[in-house]
Amino acid sequence: MELQSAFDGLLHSDQPLSGLDDLIWQSLRDGADSSDHPWNLGAFSTIDSAHPQFPRPECRKVVLRHADQQRRTIDFYTDVRSDKIRQLNSGHSPALACWLFYEATTKIQLRLDGMAEVIDGEQADEVWKQTAADSRASYLSIDPPGERVNDPLPPSTADRFVTQEVSERGRKNFRIVRTTVRHADWLYLRRQGHVRSMIDYDASGAIDAFWVVP
Ligand SMILES: Cc1cc2nc3c(=O)[nH]c(=O)nc-3n(C[C@H](O)[C@H](O)[C@H](O)COP(=O)(O)O)c2cc1C
Repeated sequence: MELQSAFDGLLHSDQPLSGLDDLIWQSLRDGADSSDHPWNLGAFSTIDSAHPQFPRPECRKVVLRHADQQRRTIDFYTDVRSDKIRQLNSGHSPALACWLFYEATTKIQLRLDGMAEVIDGEQADEVWKQTAADSRASYLSIDPPGERVNDPLPPSTADRFVTQEVSERGRKNFRIVRTTVRHADWLYLRRQGHVRSMIDYDASGAIDAFWVVP
């Protein structure tokens, strides 16, 4: 309820619109820092253009790992062999993606869209070093995630339970996906009347925040 009461407090202030952007980004930072926060998990959407005549939207839950208000970026981590990476690396350039945050007790939905990039190299090295052994399991499958298995039983995941030393082999699969947000759509299903706002972010850092009819 902390998230909800923070926005309630803002809406009771004289200039709620001027504080909305800061509160959204503070809440994203809090979401990245705590697995208990309503915005720790988001849905991340892409377009699969493998068959250009039949582009297909795809959506999946991911963990919000970092939010940078100054750069207007949010990050999650993933396996480079996953379908979402293929989708980001093909089709429209730069890759376009959308995030959605919602947790039922708060009644507050946030949609963010912008350009997504896949990051390897030193930045990924730094994060990988801090990644605990149990989290590294996500990057350790010998066979690529999403690969079809022609067997009556689900495949074994024993290849992921390894020592810290062996877990280093997961590094080659590990990537940061960073979305630079260009547009936010915030909706609060408030008992005494719904409230909705949009914020446009341009590349110079300027923002345009306005109310819209909910
Ligand atoms: C609660 C939850 C958290 C998840 N977090 C991540 C994540 O941070 N990164 C990720 O790549 N997949 C995560 N997943 C798995 C994805 O939702 C998805 O199933 C997987 O990445 C394959 O997606 P793709 O085939 O579209 O690439 C999570 C799933 C759940 C249910």
